[in-house]
Amino acid sequence: MTSIDARRVVASAKADEILAIEHGPIRPPFSNEALVKVSTVSLNRGELRRAQNASDGALQIGWDFVGTVDAQAADGSGPTEGTRVVGFSTRMEAWSEYVSIPSNYIAPIPDTVSDAQAATLPVAGLTALHAVDAATSLLGRPALTTGATGGVGMYAVQLAAIAGAKSYAQIRRAEQKPFIEGLGDFPVIVTSTGDEFSDYEGFRLVVDGVSGPILTKAIPALAPQGMCVCYGVTDTPEIPIDIGNFMRIGLAQIMGFHLYAKSESSPPSDNLPRLLSLVGTGRLNCAIEREASWSDIDRVAQDLIDRKFLGKAVLHID
Ligand SMILES: NC(=O)c1ccc[n+]([C@@H]2O[C@H](COP(=O)([O-])OP(=O)(O)OC[C@H]3O[C@@H](n4cnc5c(N)ncnc54)[C@H](OP(=O)(O)O)[C@@H]3O)[C@@H](O)[C@H]2O)c1
Repeated sequence: MTSIDARRVVASAKADEILAIEHGPIRPPFSNEALVKVSTVSLNRGELRRAQNASDGALQIGWDFVGTVDAQAADGSGPTEGTRVVGFSTRMEAWSEYVSIPSNYIAPIPDTVSDAQAATLPVAGLTALHAVDAATSLLGRPALTTGATGGVGMYAVQLAAIAGAKSYAQIRRAEQKPFIEGLGDFPVIVTSTGDEFSDYEGFRLVVDGVSGPILTKAIPALAPQGMCVCYGVTDTPEIPIDIGNFMRIGLAQIMGFHLYAKSESSPPSDNLPRLLSLVGTGRLNCAIEREASWSDIDRVAQDLIDRKFLGKAVLHID
């Protein structure tokens, strides 16, 4: 297949911009890849920070996308031409009019789920889903999601409850409570130190993307056989752990999580349908706070980085 010239998002070379839209060649698909015509994308802070660090005007940006299969993978795998799909690009090539994508990194979208809802799911939703899957015997037991106002956190707090846990949401400020209440009826722990975690029955699961003091206090608050999933470092990466106390909790575990690594053995095509089904039946709230044209992508990205809104941002390619 000859390369297509199309509009795509790159890290901006301008000092006062994070992202820019430019014309450029789209990488043609390998034999295991579908070519997808992209309609909708969703933003995560992780990729925006990469864009801020690159800013050479060459690096393509963008994980999460929704679109229609333009050409099925040449090896016959994956969804057929014309199928509406959602997925994510580990090469960060997704915020583009066309993307070549391995067929096991996309999943068909049911009619009950909108493009905007589906676009919010891949990176944030899959990370939360795998974190909750890492726990055992959650039914009726307490789980703690730190940074519950975040993209991953807001999905984790909902998914832990769906998995049967009493799902606690840690937030930093009391004024963020209405956002959590909008997701469902979850007990909220307002703290920026984590000191309060020891007041609770031990947590069977901790889902943490914060690190720093919050994680320092969350680890000793694990229950016997509890699992702490560390998927991100928003605060400081180095924390003190008293291994003697950790050992005495009894068979507690700390697991480092990386979605790229997990997706090698548990592909998005297997797991996105689980999230799509929960959204389609109204059990999982995508908390879409901003919806705009992708021509506004730099402004929306700036607002997300500056934490001017909580919830997901979705942009439509026009
Ligand atoms: N390992 C993986 O595969 C993987 C996958 C997805 C994301 N990540 C990483 O995970 C992290 C979170 O991702 P995200 O998209 O959910 O980010 P996000 O939307 O920015 O959420 C960050 C959360 O952390 C809170 N927070 C920020 N600074 C804090 C601090 N100093 N103390 C306590 N809480 C703080 C925020 O609370 P406020 O609302 O109060 O600011 C928010 O709840 C990022 O570092 C991202 O790169 C990793």
